[in-house]
Amino acid sequence: MPNLFDIDDLGPSAWEHVLSLAGDDTLGALLGGRGVALLFEKPSARTRNSAEMAVVGLGGHPVYIQGAEVGLDVRESAEDVARTLACYHSVICARVFDHTVLSRMAGALSTRDVDVPVINLLSDEAHPCQAVADILTMREMLGPLAGRSLAYIGDANNICRSLAKAALLEGMDVRVASPSDYSFSAEELDALIAFSEGMGRGGTVRVTNEPDVAASGADALYTDVWTSMGQEDERAARLAAFSGFTVDEALVAHAAGEVIVLHCLPAHRGEEIAASVLEGPHSVVWRQAAHRQTAMRGILAWTLGGRHEQRS
Ligand code: CP
Ligand code: NVA
Repeated sequence: MPNLFDIDDLGPSAWEHVLSLAGDDTLGALLGGRGVALLFEKPSARTRNSAEMAVVGLGGHPVYIQGAEVGLDVRESAEDVARTLACYHSVICARVFDHTVLSRMAGALSTRDVDVPVINLLSDEAHPCQAVADILTMREMLGPLAGRSLAYIGDANNICRSLAKAALLEGMDVRVASPSDYSFSAEELDALIAFSEGMGRGGTVRVTNEPDVAASGADALYTDVWTSMGQEDERAARLAAFSGFTVDEALVAHAAGEVIVLHCLPAHRGEEIAASVLEGPHSVVWRQAAHRQTAMRGILAWTLGGRHEQRS
């Protein structure tokens, strides 16, 4: 069974398959009463609830587990936790601090020929489940996305990384505006460009330190918190560094007249986004939050080989 650590685990055909399964509300009880482990090392509102309800919608049984409860790499190794959870569950979904924990868990299963996929529910590097929901939202609001422009304003973080890959799979023009110390490295930008070229969808990506340059004429504006979970000690430095990167009405005025504004949430009004923009007519953040559940249905169905069995 396939794992999902980040969007680049999917090629174009698997990507389309996930999105099509997400929109398919006739999948039925694909899980047939089987268990899905939902392991969280960090807090969550959207991811936990959308995943639980998606599992229930596919006829499965979700079990929520806190990181401290199993003590990943403290009480026992992540490998042993994975092997144990695989005794009871058909899918292991995990929100972790360290991205490599996901591949360690999956590796522990594959060396034992245990056919249980591992899905990333957010790590320090990536948040693919959010990116699937983001694309579902943008497709719904904007129609076909090839050639449309997406400006991400803020930290080139886990959200930005997965979103950029997903948008490149859609053939979008991706612009990322960040302060220099919080931008993609040259190596990472090169890797994104290579990814886009390999996917052959015509997507482009560039970085800038000027939010208004990124936002100019954009069809979609996206932002995320400046201080991610696990970075709380850096909050003061980040607040200073990101000054001028707020998505406010002045920035929205640089974008297309019908621009949509996205935010994965939770939001910090007055920091990365102005309250008037989050609550304003361009904002689609609650539709985006709702799509977390449809996205999770598609991802779970894909890992389980739902409809057409197409995974490449
Ligand atoms: N967007 C998102 O993943 O939200 P939670 O952290 O509340 O799950
Ligand atoms: N970048 C944020 C996303 C939260 C959904 C974090 O990792 O905390």
